Amino acid sequence: MKKKLVSLLTVSAMTMAMLAGCGSSSAPAAETAAPAETADTATQTAEAVADTAAETAEAVAETAGNADLADKKVGVCIYQFADNFMTLFRTELENYLVSQGFSKDNITIVDGANDQATQTGQIDNFITQGVDVLIINPVNSSSAASITDKVVGADIPLVYINREPDADEEARWSENGWNVTYVGCDARQSGTMQGEILVDLGQEKVDLNGDGKIQYIMIEGDPENVDAQYRTEFSVKALVDAGWEVDELDDQVGNWDQATAQQLVANSLSAHPETEVVFCNNDAMALGALQSIDAAGRKVNEDIYLVGVDALTEALEDVLAGTMTGTVFNDHIAQSHGAADAAINFVTGAGNDYYIGCDYVKVTADNAQSVLDSLK
Ligand code: BGC
Ligand code: CA
Repeated sequence: MKKKLVSLLTVSAMTMAMLAGCGSSSAPAAETAAPAETADTATQTAEAVADTAAETAEAVAETAGNADLADKKVGVCIYQFADNFMTLFRTELENYLVSQGFSKDNITIVDGANDQATQTGQIDNFITQGVDVLIINPVNSSSAASITDKVVGADIPLVYINREPDADEEARWSENGWNVTYVGCDARQSGTMQGEILVDLGQEKVDLNGDGKIQYIMIEGDPENVDAQYRTEFSVKALVDAGWEVDELDDQVGNWDQATAQQLVANSLSAHPETEVVFCNNDAMALGALQSIDAAGRKVNEDIYLVGVDALTEALEDVLAGTMTGTVFNDHIAQSHGAADAAINFVTGAGNDYYIGCDYVKVTADNAQSVLDSLK
């Protein structure tokens, strides 16, 4: 069975919708306008929010007091600390594990330095130390089978995050009833949303030179990574599905890295000044692209369009300022909490589904502020 995480953003949107619903059903339209009634509704709303907050706090307190977790050891392998998105992810992961009752001293997070051999050594060490559960962001998704064999062989439950192992590998977990799961979002959705952000603007606007085609350059993350593959494919597919013609001017590998992308986009823009759209598989690379767009004297949303993925704070600020066309929120909060909850379920014997997904959120100037607020 596939389980899906619900993001805080969705929950707050649902709560707002529910509260709005309550307000209108409890008072006829004419009365709603009266200040006294409005004040009443506001009080009720505040009470409802306070109630919910109190219940949540209680639930957290109960779990936080969980003595079972205080002496459990968690090993966390991150593919590379020098990755903006994974830094947000691991910080939230650690804080949330502690809030759920783990002792900070029993949580060890290690940097794979983008080298599978290094990470494999770290996994061996965690096995020797006898950790109770492992959370792994593999350097190479293709190494997942050998990682799983090792970890399952040592009888340690395993939560994969962020870099999804392939379908054959995931099938082995359920076939063998292993304590292994994956927590992450489906990158096809983020790619599609990148394309839709442009489609929503309309072809008239995006086809700047009016030749009936969209001239674009693509800056990819690590091509071994399924997120990079899917975002590359599905961003363009969304344009084609909308009936737009596309013209790929350049496709380069920026390895998720800002400085690399900056250099690549500088080269691409000077070779292809007719570029209308720059697609970047993540925001770090979009920020690098923006530096080169600026340096080339171009203006986003006027003579070029730029989209990324992740909704890093800096990118959200650019979207608000109009210096980035849009991005896609890659919910590191829902994903890190989901990964920690999965680890807890393994440790307490509750078990997990084999796949725990979550939704991306399309971000443009219209909702960038609310995404930014939800991250504070
Ligand atoms: C993020 C990238 C990040 C990568 C690491 C992706 O989901 O969008 O920013 O570099 O994960 O694996
Ligand atoms: Ca064109």
